[in-house]
Amino acid sequence: MSTAEQALAVNSAHEGQESEHQIDQEFLIEVTDGLSSSQKTLPCKYFYDEKGSQLFEAICETPEYYVTRTECSIYERYASEMAALIGEKALLLEPGAGSVKKIGMILEKLTNPVGFVPMDISQEILQYSSDVLSQQFPEMSIDPIVIDFLNKEQIHQIFSTLPVRPLVNKRVIFFPGSTIGNFNPDDAIVFLKQFAENLYSGDGLLIGVDLVKDTAILEAAYDDKKGITAQFNKNLLDRIDRELNATLSTGSFSHRAVFNQDKSRIEMHLVSDIEQTVCLDGNKVSFKQSETIHTENSYKYTIDSFSLLAKKAGFQLEKVWKDDNDLFSVHYFSVI
Ligand code: AVJ
Repeated sequence: MSTAEQALAVNSAHEGQESEHQIDQEFLIEVTDGLSSSQKTLPCKYFYDEKGSQLFEAICETPEYYVTRTECSIYERYASEMAALIGEKALLLEPGAGSVKKIGMILEKLTNPVGFVPMDISQEILQYSSDVLSQQFPEMSIDPIVIDFLNKEQIHQIFSTLPVRPLVNKRVIFFPGSTIGNFNPDDAIVFLKQFAENLYSGDGLLIGVDLVKDTAILEAAYDDKKGITAQFNKNLLDRIDRELNATLSTGSFSHRAVFNQDKSRIEMHLVSDIEQTVCLDGNKVSFKQSETIHTENSYKYTIDSFSLLAKKAGFQLEKVWKDDNDLFSVHYFSVI
């Protein structure tokens, strides 16, 4: 039996007993699997519960986290150039419709855009971003779609129903925030490729990519003085405790952010300060002193290394914009 199956078996053994809330089985399986591998890991997608999303917003306000602020300054300065390259009668699509601010800056500058399609797994997030954007752009057609990006057939199905020429000139995927940095490079290629395969030649990809830079700047950005990133990292333990009957956060864990030069990525870890054993839905998980849980990767690219990656996914670089300090980049690619 795999650890995942064990977790399921243990959990179903509790069925019929009084429990305060329904446990999300997929969450439990992923956490159980992650904490039973030799390098313990937790999936970073679980950072973003309500508290975690608030903490991420707060990270963006810290002086050390240059990412969001710098990317927005690039749109402020160059959105007209981006819009000119995209051209008229474009349909914009955003996987993971998180930040309405950024897409707003692009939509504002486009000539006769056909519409905007925010796509997300969460109906609530979609509703929110669609509402805000409909207010900002009352004339524009906004068609939110609930979608799971791990589901190839679903993506194909949805893309095959999008309007085509002459109604739409180009379909352009907007993927800001250096979210692509959370994927390891091979997975990033697979992720981008599934879009390329469902678009036409000449369609576009406008994507925000964080750049390799001085290690001190990178590590400070993921370990701010006020300790907000540390809270964000540790919130994952609180969430697991609350949702999966665990006792992780009652132990002692410290936040650590290191730049791994070889892999060109910031790694976030939670370090066990002491030797300890914690509970996870009826199972026990042990930590040696200084053992870590690897919670997130944030890959950093050069313009060339990212262009090469995108090329492997079927995209060709048209133009790239950066801030004056070469901290962040926004690339426009077209489908080959
Ligand atoms: C939202 C994934 C782009 O990797 O910079 C910020 C998340 N983690 N501080 C990033 C994050 C710690 C962020 N992304």
